[in-house]
Order: sequence, then C-alpha cells, then structure tokens
Amino acid sequence: MRKDVRILLVGEPKVGKTSLIMSLVSEEFPDEVPLRAEEITIPADVTPERVPTHIVDYSEAEQSDEQLYQEISKANVICIVYSVNNKKSIEKVTSHWIPLINERTDKDSRVPLILVGNKSDLVEHSSMETILPIMNQYSEIETCVECSAKNLKNISELFYYAQKAVLHPTGPLYSPEEKEMKPSCIKALTRIFKISDLDNDGILNDNELNFFQRTCFNIPLAPQALEDVKNVVRKNMSDGVKDNGLTLKGFLFLHTLFIQRGRHETTWTVLRRFGYDDDLELTQEYLFPLLKIPPDCTTELNHNAYLFLQSVFDKHDKDRDCALSPDELKDLFKVFPYMPWGPDVNNTVCTNEQGWITYQGYLSQWTLTTYLDVQRCLEYLGYLGYSIIQEQESQAAAITVTRNKRIDLQKKQTQRSVFRCNVLGARGSGKSGFLQGFLGRNLVRQKKIREDHKSYYAISTTYVYGQEKYLLLHEVLPDFEFLSEADLACDVVCLVYDISNPCSFEYCAKVYKKHYMDSKTPCVIISAKSDLHEARQYYSLSPLDFCRKHKLHPPQLFTCNTAEAPSKDIYTKLTTMAMYPHAKLRCMCSCNRCTFCICHNLLNSELVRSVKAKLYSTVLNRHMTQADLKNSTFWLRASVGATVFAVLGFAMYKALLKQR
Ligand code: GTP
Ligand code: MG
Repeated sequence: MRKDVRILLVGEPKVGKTSLIMSLVSEEFPDEVPLRAEEITIPADVTPERVPTHIVDYSEAEQSDEQLYQEISKANVICIVYSVNNKKSIEKVTSHWIPLINERTDKDSRVPLILVGNKSDLVEHSSMETILPIMNQYSEIETCVECSAKNLKNISELFYYAQKAVLHPTGPLYSPEEKEMKPSCIKALTRIFKISDLDNDGILNDNELNFFQRTCFNIPLAPQALEDVKNVVRKNMSDGVKDNGLTLKGFLFLHTLFIQRGRHETTWTVLRRFGYDDDLELTQEYLFPLLKIPPDCTTELNHNAYLFLQSVFDKHDKDRDCALSPDELKDLFKVFPYMPWGPDVNNTVCTNEQGWITYQGYLSQWTLTTYLDVQRCLEYLGYLGYSIIQEQESQAAAITVTRNKRIDLQKKQTQRSVFRCNVLGARGSGKSGFLQGFLGRNLVRQKKIREDHKSYYAISTTYVYGQEKYLLLHEVLPDFEFLSEADLACDVVCLVYDISNPCSFEYCAKVYKKHYMDSKTPCVIISAKSDLHEARQYYSLSPLDFCRKHKLHPPQLFTCNTAEAPSKDIYTKLTTMAMYPHAKLRCMCSCNRCTFCICHNLLNSELVRSVKAKLYSTVLNRHMTQADLKNSTFWLRASVGATVFAVLGFAMYKALLKQR
C-alpha cells in the first residue's frame, strides 16, 4: 500500500474548493477564505486509513497553467469540484477538466477522479441525474459525492473517498464497462481460494471460512454472519454454495458484490494479506523475505516446514497412493505462476514404478531447492501461502540456517541433516549411473531416461545410526579446466573410475592431487561398473596403491547393472563420512574389539537402533583420537592381501582381516 496520499482539488473559480479544505480543517464554515489554501498535511493517525494525506488547492487567479499541470502530475487523486447550483461549472467537468487531466496522465496509469458537487445547501434537487451519465462515460471516475462546505455535509466523506481511491483503487479489480472483475483479479482470488481450501475439495467449509476470515481481518466470523454470507450467495446463484460451503464461484461472486457496492477495500485487504501489490503481482517483499546466510553455512527446511509441505502433499494426493500423478502435480502447482518442476526432477528424486514423484521424492526435491537455492525455495513457499497458513511472519520462518561448518568440524559434531557429495570422474566413467543408483534404479531402468530429462543431481535419504539424513549427490562435469570453487566445495567427494576402462583412473588421481589432497574433505574412490572385467589402469599406481599412498579408503566397488535396485550401502557410508569427516578410519578398523567397533556394531544392531546419536558422537570423538594415532599400524596391516582385495572388494577384505 502507498506510504502517503496527495489529493488535488480543481474546478471552476468560486465553486468552493478553498472553502471545502478550510471546512475540513477547522470543522466550521469560514465566511472569508483566501484565493488558495496553503498545502496541508493531515497526519496519519487522524485519517481513516492511517496514511499521511496532503491536500492541495488550486486557484486560477493565483496559479499559471504550467503550475496546474505540475500539480496534476504530482497528484494521486484529483477531485473535480463543481457547484450544484451552477450548470456551467458542471459542463466544464467534461468539456474542460477531464480532457485536461487525461492529456497529462498515462493512459495505463490514469489518476483516479472524484466528482464533487459542492453547495448542496443551496438547492433542493440533486445533481446526480446529470452526473451519472458522466460517470458511466469515464472509467477513471472513481465515485461522486454531493456536499456542502457551509453546513459541513459529507466533507470528511469526500476526503475519505479520495484517500480510498488511491489506497484501494477499483481500476485493477473491476471493469465498469463489463460490469465484472478483471481477469487478473479473478486469477489472484482463485489462487487465494485454492490456498484457503485446506482439504482441496473445491469448497470453503465453515472451518476454512473462519480461518480465512481470521487471517485476513483478524476477527472471527460470528456463526450467524457466516450463514448470512452464504444466504446472500444462495439467493443470487444456484452453485455458489455447495455442501453448506462456499464454492469458487460463490467466493468470486461475493467479491464482485463487495466491489460493486463500493466496499472494494475488503477485497484489497484479502489481496494484500496474500502478498499482492496494486498491480496484482505478488510483491518482492512477500516472495523474498530477508534471510541472512553467513558464509560456510547451509540452508535446510525445519520441522514445521516439512509438516506444511506434507500437508500440501496430502491435500493433492487424491488417490492416496503416496505419489503425485502428473495431474495431481499440476494441481499442486496451480497456485504458482509457472510450473517450477521440469521432467528432470523425476530423475533427481525417487519415483514409483510409473515414474511419478513419491512422497519421499517430493520432500527430497524441496530439500534440494532449499539447499541449492534458498531464495527460490522462499519464493515457492510464498506461492503455496506458507506464512499465511502457518501463521508465520514470512517464509524465512521455514528455514534453518546451519552453523558454520568450521565449528562443526572443531566440535566434531553436526546438527545438519543435508550433506552434499560431489561426484567427479572422467567422461563415461559411470557417474550418472552412480547417481541414479541412489534413486534405486538399475541399468535397465536408467536406459529409459531421455537425454534432455537427465539431471546432474540426485537426492534421497539414508539412515545413519538411526537418524534419517539427506544425501545430495552432484555430478560435476568432467572438464578439468573449468572446475569452480562451487563445483568442488562439498562434504564428501566421490572420485569415480570405470574398472573396465584403463584410461579412466588417471582423472581421479589428477583431481584428487590438484583439489583434495590438502583439503579436509573426505574422499572415496568408486570403482564403477564392477560387473565388467577389470582392466589394468595405465596410471603409474594402481587405484589401491594410490589409496594406500594417500591414506584413503580402499576403492569401493559399485555396479548398477543389477537385477534389483542397486545396494544402498555405499550411500550410507558416504553420508556417514560426510557427517563425521574426522573419522577417516572408522569402518576400516573392523577389529571388533576397540570401543568404536563395539559401539558401531551395537548401534547397527536392531536392539539399539534408537540409541541417540549424541551418545554415539561422544564415543566416536573419543575413539577418533586413538584411531588417528593408529594410522600407520592400520596401513601396515592393510597392505597384506591387498591384491586380493582389489578384486574382491570391501566385504572380503573385512573377512580376511578377521581371519588374521
Ligand atoms: P477560486 O479560488 O476562485 O477558484 O474559488 P474556490 O473554488 O476556492 O471557492 P471559494 O472557496 O473561494 O468559495 C467561493 C464562494 O462560495 C465563497 O463566497 C464561499 O463562501 C461560497 N461557498 C463555498 N462553499 C459553499 C457552500 O457549501 N455553500 C454555500 N452556500 N456557499 C459556499
Ligand atoms: Mg480558492
């Protein structure tokens, strides 16, 4: 809404412009007035709409045409004053004043006009008969009013109408020619209806109407008033009320009625509460509330936001199959000005057999947006009406900004629930397969993905010691020269090579040495396509020797060429490493005797799955210091049987160690 209002009074000489202003200010009729009143400013708290209001007089005797034109262009609303007992002053409204004003204002942003018939004390009859045709002819005329400066009739009303014409303009809402609401207004109100229809049955029931009333007007609706409203609609149309609730048609009808009866401030209150500006666009302040994100912090949705998103999902999952069909998804995004999710989303998150986004996948995509582009997430939540439905200040209330990662590292503990894993590897090494494997898709399923529907992200949940965490996999394009800071920053890194391609390991070694060797980010080498025959890598060191030299986990075998969904173990392992980056040797130890191993096994057993992670991290931290010291012994032990390991993989390696 505007911060102030500037009202200009124009009209023929001696119609009473100055007297009207003086009467308003002094609340009595001044017998003598100057030619032109000084500009006055009425403070916000004494005006009905609580907005400071400037009132500007005009006098032909005192002002030049140039000065008049300047005032016209500065005004937010213009009152054309005539005298009810002076025919000529009425004629001049159409022959002189309206054309003069219209020439000086843009066609698209016409300033609202108010016709003011002064000196009503002098005549018995009303001038309305002459005025109404003029009103019908010019849509920029907001309203007309007859008044008298002498006996103070309708003086405050006149200035209230003027203020209202600026603050709650009819123009964007209603077309007087068509006698109906404008399409953009119908669109906005339809969106508001859909958000307020909490169960999405196409009807606002009493509960929903009450909620709507409370959010928009801060007062509950009396039960009788509720019935009255419905009765008004019933009387006027057959399908405005259904199952004792208001249909969209009925809702729109009510607003048309408000506007037609000059109560369009009611409609404006509703529109503004839902974030609309005077052009019926959602305001930037509504869509993008301020949210400060310090460096090295990430953004996540909080519990409340997940509950809200869950309710939005439930509201649209009409057949309750825990997935959104294309129609259901379209319906969900009807409150958006555009479709935010493209077909790539179906390849970013988990879907069901039909390829529809599941409940899990839906929440994952929201988590991804929040993590990668929190502004977009705020915008989307704004479209869904988050702050209104959840009764929050703004969408910013949905976001948790995590603490600086450096503090997490220092304390060896994290409260975060989303972790980012960058997946790097030479072209064709199996990165995409690794991402899709996380979504439970084997090679056969992956072959069905269209090239233009491909995604460079995959996100889903894993359970780390009984806690559900999100792991976000990001496939980084292999152009070595173009790796940016953002491509490299993450919580854990996967370096993927194709065991059947002898040239593919070199890329991993190079990226590792250039970017990760000296960083604190944990790295894992993935030996992809492990179902294929292993080729000897051309690189100077074998992958296993490379890992050994750089104190990395041995390469992890991975294949998505499986009959069922590929195993999730590796992803859980990655999440664990992302959460506890210090614990480099954690699962490599496997002695089954040390505190860590015992704790690890215990936590993994069904019995104590519920043991809180806090307990775990305390033990883990204590163990880690010991494990770090034992680094060298570990690698000494690992070197035995290394060749066997390279082929047989991690499980076999564990078994071998046990035997020893
Ligand atoms: P200019 O400044 O010359 O353009 O005139 P104006 O439009 O400002 O009119 P002004 O207020 O000077 O009033 C002109 C005459 O009309 C004065 O004699 C007023 O006393 C008288 N007058 C103004 N309003 C009323 C009214 O409501 N009723 C009656 N009976 N007389 C009025
Ligand atoms: Mg005057």
